Amino acid sequence: MIRSVRAGAPLTGAVRCPGDKSISHRYAMLAALAQGESELLNFAGSLDCQSTLRCLRALGVDIRTRDNSVFITGNGLNGLKAPSGDLDAGNSGTTMRLLSGILAGQSFETTIAGDASLSRRPMGRIIEPLRLMGAHIYSGESGLPPLRIRGGDLRAIRYSLPVASAQVKSCVLLAGLFADGIVAVEERVATRDHTEIALVQFGGKVQRRESWIEIEPRPDLKARHLEIPGDLSGAAFFIVAAALAPDSEILLPGVGLNPQRRLLIDYLQSAGVRVEVENQTELGGEARGDLRVHHDPATLHASLPPVGGDLAAALIDEIPVLAVLGSQAGGLVIRDARELRIKESDRIAVVAANLRAMGAEVEELPDGMNIAGRQRLHGAAIESHGDHRIAMSFAVAALAASGETHIHQAECADVSFPGFFDALARLRSGLGPKISS
Ligand code: S3P
Repeated sequence: MIRSVRAGAPLTGAVRCPGDKSISHRYAMLAALAQGESELLNFAGSLDCQSTLRCLRALGVDIRTRDNSVFITGNGLNGLKAPSGDLDAGNSGTTMRLLSGILAGQSFETTIAGDASLSRRPMGRIIEPLRLMGAHIYSGESGLPPLRIRGGDLRAIRYSLPVASAQVKSCVLLAGLFADGIVAVEERVATRDHTEIALVQFGGKVQRRESWIEIEPRPDLKARHLEIPGDLSGAAFFIVAAALAPDSEILLPGVGLNPQRRLLIDYLQSAGVRVEVENQTELGGEARGDLRVHHDPATLHASLPPVGGDLAAALIDEIPVLAVLGSQAGGLVIRDARELRIKESDRIAVVAANLRAMGAEVEELPDGMNIAGRQRLHGAAIESHGDHRIAMSFAVAALAASGETHIHQAECADVSFPGFFDALARLRSGLGPKISS
């Protein structure tokens, strides 16, 4: 499907972001391993999280849905059943990497596969620690999916992560539920800690000692009633859109503000974007609050602070839309973001190519980009390569361009943000819910 977007109206009103994708995956998997019925409110409708639910159902878990709530009845740590066919993780790296940790602890054999994009993403990073724990894993060439996993009793390991990846950390921690002793994972660069928080919520025993995270095996996980905050990575598109479109003022209620994820807010504020946090609370160990964003023409005068080092890992999902913002502000240099090349698409190459198609000057670096500032963008045909964050980033770029921008395969936005284009249109028509001050 092609979606066409052009500049014009400001964004005004309120928009509710879907439930956080990372947290939804984790709650679903832990609810499946807990004893009893969990109720998960505001569960992400994203296709990625539906992939996790589909895999869990295939493993014999009873799952019902009503509106945005998901009810999952688990039968404890040993309650999963051998599926009758291959598990399909769709486009979702989180489903494949996290679930593999759980599958490694099962006494049956499972094959987990994904779509064309996921089939090109490296799994060696989870295969290595799971093999060290004693799981038998067979993959395609060079550690690519599909993965055939024959698990069983796992050995406890102490494992230092070679890449900054919350998915790999989480895979090892989830496998640690089935180990014969305490599993410890070291992350030298902090990544999102939703797994650690969720494990504690469901009754797991997890401790952080400096850069090491330790998990005790075989806990009695208990069903929980939890509400998932809105997805900050989805909110990022609207924050940048409001920063770009003159006279915009929007409210994003109930967005997740986990300390690792909210580094995005700190970054945007330091770049001069007027985004304020209101009504901050905490539920289930996860901070959340309302975000109010005002357009401020002054934002676009200076260059954006460089993104590199540990910050590149923290902002990894938002870099495509920050690249768009950088091209309209005084420029942006992104380094240490090589991981972007192995996301749903090669996001360095694809962002650079699409910005250039719109008339911007961009230098592609092996681990990032050097984006010239104050670029005059013009409408263009955008190849999203079926990558949700590319489709949404360039819908935002279109708001700063002359003429019309045509986004190809725009339906891929549903991977993380079903209804994104309609929500954008509502904010721009002024027909959305009004903001109370
Ligand atoms: C995620 C971790 C990150 C992120 C992805 C979601 C998670 O991936 O890019 O969108 O939920 O753990 P990596 O762990 O590969 O960095």
